[in-house]
Amino acid sequence: MSLGGLLDQATSRFEVAGIESARVDAELLAGFVLGYSRGELQSALIADTANPTPEQLETLESLFARREAREPLQHLTGEAHFRNITLKVGKGVFVPRPETEWVTQFAVDATKAAAVAEPLVFDLCAGSGAIGLAIASEVANARVIGIEKSPDAFAFTRANYEAIAPNNGTAILGDLSEASSDFDGLVDVVISNPPYIPDQMVPVYPEVALHDPGLALYGGNDGLDVVRVVSQTAKRLLHEGGTLVIEHADMQGEAVRHLLLSDGWRQVRTHQDFNGRDRTATAIR
Ligand SMILES: C[S@@+](CC[C@H](N)C(=O)[O-])C[C@H]1O[C@@H](n2cnc3c(N)ncnc32)[C@H](O)[C@@H]1O
Repeated sequence: MSLGGLLDQATSRFEVAGIESARVDAELLAGFVLGYSRGELQSALIADTANPTPEQLETLESLFARREAREPLQHLTGEAHFRNITLKVGKGVFVPRPETEWVTQFAVDATKAAAVAEPLVFDLCAGSGAIGLAIASEVANARVIGIEKSPDAFAFTRANYEAIAPNNGTAILGDLSEASSDFDGLVDVVISNPPYIPDQMVPVYPEVALHDPGLALYGGNDGLDVVRVVSQTAKRLLHEGGTLVIEHADMQGEAVRHLLLSDGWRQVRTHQDFNGRDRTATAIR
């Protein structure tokens, strides 16, 4: 069968399996195996110049079968794109999401606005390191510290910090509440995309429910257990006037505002994403 025929077949299989981005995923996997970008693959298909070897076809078939079984695309390719960086990801680490790219902008802006030569930023619940590393690469004079609790996830945090921010990033394995008191009152920006799904709300997508680690997803009865610790920890880390940015679920806007106001934060704001849903809180120490 031609590569085009294989892609058509994989697309149908993915659609039956309930994958919304069926054709895109089939093309990205084929491009990954053949060493092409998606655009290059499409050109090669039109020009009929893509001639996979038998080994490549075998690899592709095995990846198609795993994707059909709803393994995340990024686990199969081993990488995830986030803002202007590419991160290593795989089993044991949360795959960064597009909505978090938008949340990160609030911290990038606050870091750029910090009136110091070397703004200090903490990314609490770092996962792959996506947020902190995007800030470290976009704001070259920033110093970024990412804290991650899961040893499995931390293998990726550390590798990505070493690859992307060897000079201005530090990855630390530990509970966010244990962030060193040496930094108390010295930090300019704290950002966190913590686990915030209520324990009883299991996500519908198999990629999430079966492949994202539970520690990355669930935040207790109301989903806000870790958000409470983030608020307390950020309160001691930030200097007066420092900025806190927290991603949360769309039904948690009011609850997070209430929590932050009770903890004494100023200028507490909820921000809506492009779909008009409450997804981020910002506050000033
Ligand atoms: C939703 S994921 C976000 C990962 C990454 N920041 C991103 O946006 O892609 C939450 C992360 O927090 C970590 N985590 C959960 N509880 C934590 C805690 N108490 N201290 C530090 N990290 C924690 C999880 O292991 C997971 O990697």
